[in-house]
Amino acid sequence: AAGTRPPLREVAGVPLPATTVDNWSQIQGFEAQPDDLLICTYPKSGTTWIQEIVDMIEQGGDVERCQRVTIQHRHPFLEWARPPQPSGVDRAAAMPSPRVLRTHLPTQLLPPSFWENNCKFLYVARNAKDCMVSYFHFQRMNQTLPDPGTWEEYFETSVSGKVAWGSWFEHVKGWWEIRKKFQVLFLFYEDIKRNPKQEIQKVMQFMGKNLDGPVLDRIVQETSFEKMKANPMTNHSSAPKWILDQSISPFMRKGTVGDWKNHFTVAQKERFDEIYKQKMEGTSIHFCTEL
Ligand code: PPS
Repeated sequence: AAGTRPPLREVAGVPLPATTVDNWSQIQGFEAQPDDLLICTYPKSGTTWIQEIVDMIEQGGDVERCQRVTIQHRHPFLEWARPPQPSGVDRAAAMPSPRVLRTHLPTQLLPPSFWENNCKFLYVARNAKDCMVSYFHFQRMNQTLPDPGTWEEYFETSVSGKVAWGSWFEHVKGWWEIRKKFQVLFLFYEDIKRNPKQEIQKVMQFMGKNLDGPVLDRIVQETSFEKMKANPMTNHSSAPKWILDQSISPFMRKGTVGDWKNHFTVAQKERFDEIYKQKMEGTSIHFCTEL
């Protein structure tokens, strides 16, 4: 109901929406199939963007076929649970193969059948500071997540990992570390922004598809921020206001790299860089931190 913001609940130390935790045994028992492709992201890292790219590739660049239904209904959201609506697991079970699914779960909470079936994982990572900013605005408008409070308050909540789906550091490190043991295509939001055609081509190859240059060019155009912001099938404009109140902040907000500079104080930036160094020590992952 309007005005109530349910608190998060934890599974193995990772805060999650309470409705997801209520449905946890169904989620953990999910039966993956070997030809499933799972889109994996930390929240606000470009999930919707890569979903549209994947669907455009699947549909051979056919814009109208991508408009058949809203983006949240094209790829079941694994841990989505909001009875009496069918859960993400129910939706996936009702879907013909080969399936494309999506999740924000960190590796340690993924249903084991994904590993057992050696599924393909498409991971998109976005630099931590921009993720934090995007998540802050998302929590302001997403009525199913906790109220973020002020930016200063949110900064603390975020660096301590007390946000839904947990710490950015653990999430990105976890997926980075397993990328060579499984079939993982690990992409960066900033790379897609800089060179969309090249990154889209990687996705195409990973999906085992072959599309020619003009089709790829069309996919680049149709998945631009401006196009997706104007497209009712990708901008979440049909989500009910009690879930997403886009009068507070639009889902398709800015779609840029480096918006953190408009939010972080100098002191926050310095503190964040210090925490980043500690948490990411020993990993070989490289983000351009000075954007
Ligand atoms: S969610 O709620 O986790 O599924 O959100 P997610 O889709 O991962 O992330 C939303 C942010 O991605 C931006 N976005 C895009 N950027 C560039 N190009 C395209 N096509 C695009 N589509 C979505 C969206 O604007 C959010 O980022 P911010 O920085 O808030 O604008």
